[in-house]
Amino acid sequence: METYGPIIRNATEILHGGDYNPDQWLETPEIIDRDFELMEKSGCNTFSVGIFSWTMLEPAPGKYQFDWLDRIMDRMAEHNFHVILATPSGAKPAWLATAYPEVCRVDEHGLRQPYADRHNHCWSSPVYREKVREINSKLAERYAHHPALSAWHISNEYNGKCFCELCQERFRVWLRERYGTLENLNRAWWNTFWSHLHTDWAEITPWGGSEGNSLDWKRFATFQCCDFMKFEADALRVYTPEIPVTTNMMGFFDGLDYWRVAEVCDFISDDVYPGWGIDPDVRRILSECAMRHDMHRAMKNGKPFLIMESAPSATNWQPGHRLKRPNQHKLEELCAVGHGADGTLYFQWRKSRGNLEKFHGAVVDHVGTEETRVFRDVAELGALYRKCNDICGSATPVQAAVVWDWECFWAHQFDQGPGKEDQKKYCETVQTFYRALWTRNFPLDVIESLSDFSKYRLLICPMLIMLKPGVAERLKAFVAAGGTLVMSYLSGYEDENTNCFLGGWPGDGLMELFGIWNEEPGGIPAFDRQWLRYEGREIEVVDYAERIHLRGAEALAEFTSDPLYEGMPAITVNRFGAGKAYYLAGRTGEEFLSEFLGKLALEAGLEPVIPAENPGISASVRRKGEEEFLFLFNYTAEERQVRLPAGNFTVLANGSCCSGTLTLPPFGSEILKK
Ligand code: GLA
Ligand code: ZN
Repeated sequence: METYGPIIRNATEILHGGDYNPDQWLETPEIIDRDFELMEKSGCNTFSVGIFSWTMLEPAPGKYQFDWLDRIMDRMAEHNFHVILATPSGAKPAWLATAYPEVCRVDEHGLRQPYADRHNHCWSSPVYREKVREINSKLAERYAHHPALSAWHISNEYNGKCFCELCQERFRVWLRERYGTLENLNRAWWNTFWSHLHTDWAEITPWGGSEGNSLDWKRFATFQCCDFMKFEADALRVYTPEIPVTTNMMGFFDGLDYWRVAEVCDFISDDVYPGWGIDPDVRRILSECAMRHDMHRAMKNGKPFLIMESAPSATNWQPGHRLKRPNQHKLEELCAVGHGADGTLYFQWRKSRGNLEKFHGAVVDHVGTEETRVFRDVAELGALYRKCNDICGSATPVQAAVVWDWECFWAHQFDQGPGKEDQKKYCETVQTFYRALWTRNFPLDVIESLSDFSKYRLLICPMLIMLKPGVAERLKAFVAAGGTLVMSYLSGYEDENTNCFLGGWPGDGLMELFGIWNEEPGGIPAFDRQWLRYEGREIEVVDYAERIHLRGAEALAEFTSDPLYEGMPAITVNRFGAGKAYYLAGRTGEEFLSEFLGKLALEAGLEPVIPAENPGISASVRRKGEEEFLFLFNYTAEERQVRLPAGNFTVLANGSCCSGTLTLPPFGSEILKK
């Protein structure tokens, strides 16, 4: 298996630490002294500094003060800590907004926003860009050779849109590049509908209202973001070409196509705030975390990633403010490492004294002591990480993938029907398909429809309504070469412009691959009950059932209840070349899905990480040469015995040997080395 180098410069250990804002404490240097003492005690080694420090770095236009940051950087180096230095563009100084109001965004109603909050700058504004270039260049020039500088964290959680004239003009330029001519654009957006034909580029705005217009405006936000990111990174690379650059993502955040953002990053980092106080189902919480980790690892072809932010205790912006239960902190963080992270950091190292995040969880609270439950949780994890450094750079062996595609997500949002969003549930559905196999401990990648399929044996495409150019061809090639493909209802209806395929669904040649014709999509409102029969059992179908016909495929299940569907195929399989293509024409519950997909996975030759008969336990694995690291997670509130795979293991936490079975406490987790 491949092994990977450090994700940030000179790091050979698991990264542990967090956002550190010493600029809030310059008037109380004893607090900063205390921070460094506590950092050592906590087993932390990596800090992201300067994320929102613009006014502390440049208090007035062109007047810089780096002395405080110099001292922090030097102290970090003395302690052999790594600094992930941020560019401050996530929050602009008030003086900048006052002198140049055009750096503030215009909202969707056309109103220029006042100076406020953060993450709300016009990415097109030449002034904003110039000011960002200046401050980034100053930072990069000053710290280029500083031993603590290990990576760049550009801006913070890029998000949002600006509707100013400049941004709209850039949108039109972007459209010209995409479509070449107005005729092409009109065709792509199907603008003969409702008399939407454009005769001049200048007529085009974000508000046109057609599906294509809305979708492209959303795509354009990703382009704008990536363009701005490149701009920020270029300013840094002039001085620090060797220092890796990242920005912190937000999981399945709807506003950006993170597959494209990933291309601009040297390594992936993510901010994870599981809903511990929102969702009582820890299994669901953990599987959602695992899914985003599997995506972030896949975004760079298996390369380890970083959790840039997580909460050491409660998250102030979530409802409930429920405290993490014993062992849940370790469970959450090890889940990331187990799925390919080479480090987990926190928001935040120390709670601020005032303002919006003073009640947000932090490693160090307002007392400033190590005698807190949270500090002990963090220090315990830090101590464990110190025994786990061999894990860094290891890879995750994967043979199956689930497709999560942002543009497909957006297509489902903009498509008027079939059904509404609370029925479509794209996000939830992909997560359910993922969880169906995660529950059975099959290692998974989460990929997009443009990713390479050829390295997998099993490929799952839930609700892949949009087929971008070439996707159908690659799906065919995947199956022809021996792959097992599963596609669900609401797939293969439309092209990348959300225009329907003519001549039958699943379109673009996929009728041949699946050996079916999908005549008509149908919804199942709550007052209908619908069932399919599979191996003599009746399985309930909810939300969607399609009327499909066999065109060479074999039916594995059929609808039974509704006369409109009775006897029609509900699940089909078609042999195509050396592989098989399965189609699910109705939405079933997770339990059936897990049984069905689990069977296909075994048939496709996949091996679960641990035997399936370990209820309540999730497992993942990382490998490096001959070394194998087995991660075990108990997502229940009860003690569990885990049946281990054959062989002798060392429990990394305490060096003890084990084989056969292992006991995990409620929400317990462990790393075993083989
Ligand atoms: C985000 C931001 C941080 C902080 C945290 C609080 O992830 O990046 O600056 O506001 O939320 O959870
Ligand atoms: Zn703008």
